Amino acid sequence: MIRSLGDNLVSLVKGNSDLLLAVLAALGFYLYFSYKLKGAAPDGHKCRIPGNLGLPFIGETFSFLSATNSTRGCYDFIKLRRLWHGKWFKTRLFGKIHVFVPTTDGAKQVFSSDFVQFNKGYVKSMGDAVGKNSLLCVPHENHKRIRRLLSDPFSMNSLSKFVTKIDTMLSERMKELERGGKSFALLDFSMKTAFDGMCDMLMSITDDTTLREIERDCTDVSNAMLSLPFMIPGTRYYKGIKARQRLMERFRKLIAGRRSGNRNSRKDFLQSMLDRDLLPPEEKLDDAEIMDNLLTLIIAGQTTTAAAMMWSVKFLDGNREAQERLREEQLEINRKKPEGEALTLEDINKMSYGLKVVKETLRMSNVLLWFPRVALKDCTIDGHKIKEGWHVNIDATCIHYDPDIYKDPLQFNPSRFDEMQKPFSFIPFGYGPRTCLGINMAKVTMLVFLHRLTSGYRWTVDDQDPSLEKAAHIPRLRSGCPITLRSL
Ligand code: HEM
Repeated sequence: MIRSLGDNLVSLVKGNSDLLLAVLAALGFYLYFSYKLKGAAPDGHKCRIPGNLGLPFIGETFSFLSATNSTRGCYDFIKLRRLWHGKWFKTRLFGKIHVFVPTTDGAKQVFSSDFVQFNKGYVKSMGDAVGKNSLLCVPHENHKRIRRLLSDPFSMNSLSKFVTKIDTMLSERMKELERGGKSFALLDFSMKTAFDGMCDMLMSITDDTTLREIERDCTDVSNAMLSLPFMIPGTRYYKGIKARQRLMERFRKLIAGRRSGNRNSRKDFLQSMLDRDLLPPEEKLDDAEIMDNLLTLIIAGQTTTAAAMMWSVKFLDGNREAQERLREEQLEINRKKPEGEALTLEDINKMSYGLKVVKETLRMSNVLLWFPRVALKDCTIDGHKIKEGWHVNIDATCIHYDPDIYKDPLQFNPSRFDEMQKPFSFIPFGYGPRTCLGINMAKVTMLVFLHRLTSGYRWTVDDQDPSLEKAAHIPRLRSGCPITLRSL
């Protein structure tokens, strides 16, 4: 019976192949247009964001974790979904719906209504780890005041002493490594340098034993920021909270020591905060605010700057022309200075090609892959409907690799920054009220590092493996980028 049905079907198809083709074509058109129309709002705007929300709560969390725990890195999860669903897609992670905003218009809209339509998502463990007075956690009004009071020491003019200090530190450390003649993990070097430079600038701490103790505690605090907030011994959260308590105690003693000693003995960030002691409350930070933000600055500044330093070397290794051009600019700066003299802010301002190398490194490395926000009310972004409570991530990586914005986006080409960038197309430091506070410090650290490296040495990258570190939210090479220095 089945066989005769099949035979009949075959003969029907054979006899009516034109008709069948027409039916298939009509069906294809129908499916295509109904898919397009489903995303069209009455006013002609696209509104329905495609994507797979999966099971309630779980959604695609396991796929995300699996990408995060692979050597391709967590952005692989996003890349795959863009292939499946298109530029705009939604997903569900850890019980929340996430949309990754891939356009400059979308980024503009979210950045421009930070705190009004969108806010940073509050995670309990983050507040517990860095403190409720941290810039990362405080509500709008407090954020404005704290940010205003923190900003001055990070302005370009205030950083002149930092330039000289970090230059001297880098110069000595590189000489030592070159003399040793051995391969070393550049990432370890840049983590240590960024950390030590920051602690010197913030609190004038230079003793190596103390620095390593503080660094260990800061790492534990940082690891606790996205952990489950249960105070169970052995967990990341527990370790982070204990480390925070030690750090707060240390900062408290430091502040008390400064208050009881000679106030003018140090010219660092902490002193500039304490010099405001006699001002009215709205013009100064209280001790809890100073301490939480000291910790925030160290955590926000170390891993980011160190990763960017590492990527600059990796990218320059792959583009010898850019490396030579940068070297020539830096040697020219040296030729005009008395031998052995440390760099100044004026020298930094002469590094126009160096700055393009820094920018191109930041464009390609995307140290912070996306910037997370939560929608405070229903809204539309770039024509796409967003519901209150959805997580909206400004996808800096997608924008920085968009071929319509950057020609040959996979090429490391610092000269592309000869031209002015379109608004919101270059956002490694974010934008708006939450723009990175350490933007100048990060750029200066990278420029001084590139100066010392290229004007003093050539290097070989001793492991070309492009794999990324597992379980890291900041992309870094798993190898730590081992290099060997040779004096020029
Ligand atoms: C290459 C290095 C760095 C990169 C790529 C970077 C990137 C960023 C980005 C994108 C944001 C905004 C995130 C958002 O909008 O959600 C941010 C915020 C912040 N960064 Fe950086 N950063 C770097 C270095 C530093 C340094 C050296 C410091 C401090 C010394 C620092 C301190 C901060 C602080 C305190 C915030 C929070 C600002 C606020 O919420 O008002 N960053 N950073």
